[in-house]
Amino acid sequence: MPWSSIGVANYSVRYLKELLLHVSVVPSVNQIKCHPSLPQQDVVDFCHQMGIHIIAYSAFGSTGGPHFAAPPIVALAEKKHSTPAKVLLSWHSTRGSSVLVRSNNLSRIKDNCELINLDEDDCALIRVYSNDLCKKGLFRRYVYPPFGIDLGFPDAAM
Ligand SMILES: NC(=O)c1ccc[n+]([C@@H]2O[C@H](COP(=O)([O-])OP(=O)(O)OC[C@H]3O[C@@H](n4cnc5c(N)ncnc54)[C@H](OP(=O)(O)O)[C@@H]3O)[C@@H](O)[C@H]2O)c1
Repeated sequence: MPWSSIGVANYSVRYLKELLLHVSVVPSVNQIKCHPSLPQQDVVDFCHQMGIHIIAYSAFGSTGGPHFAAPPIVALAEKKHSTPAKVLLSWHSTRGSSVLVRSNNLSRIKDNCELINLDEDDCALIRVYSNDLCKKGLFRRYVYPPFGIDLGFPDAAM
């Protein structure tokens, strides 16, 4: 029986376009590394256009949560009387994406299921931060798997 739905991971726009030339079934989801230091706006926009749902991983920047200390994330957590973790997770829902977050801690797993509301001004604060990193050539993924080929992402060629 042929597959009726498929998912892909780590597909940049370049590779999605190439893939779509060769498949009869458009992927349902694309799982990508995505956080304020690597917002992947081009992939998010292209996937929305093609009806492909984005699942973001490494929302915290992986082990150690380097994004918890990012200035706009700290500021928004204070403003919302919440936590940097919730700000980072909730940001994805404002973009129509889901998040795959990892925790070995039961109370955090439960806590990570509850999001907060971020309005346009809140999102603009994160966008300014991301755009500034982009201008400075500071987009980064924190964990660099040895892809072995250029996958077409802005932060890492290999
Ligand atoms: N498709 C791919 O190529 C790919 C690549 C990498 C990862 N992934 C998937 O993405 C998932 C998550 O990404 P990730 O592993 O990079 O890490 P992540 O979700 O960005 O961060 C995980 C870290 O955050 C901590 N954490 C979780 N909830 C927290 C909270 N509420 N407050 C403070 N700290 C918290 C965890 O510690 P505790 O355990 O102590 O809570 C853990 O050290 C992985 O499990 C994997 O399934 C996919």
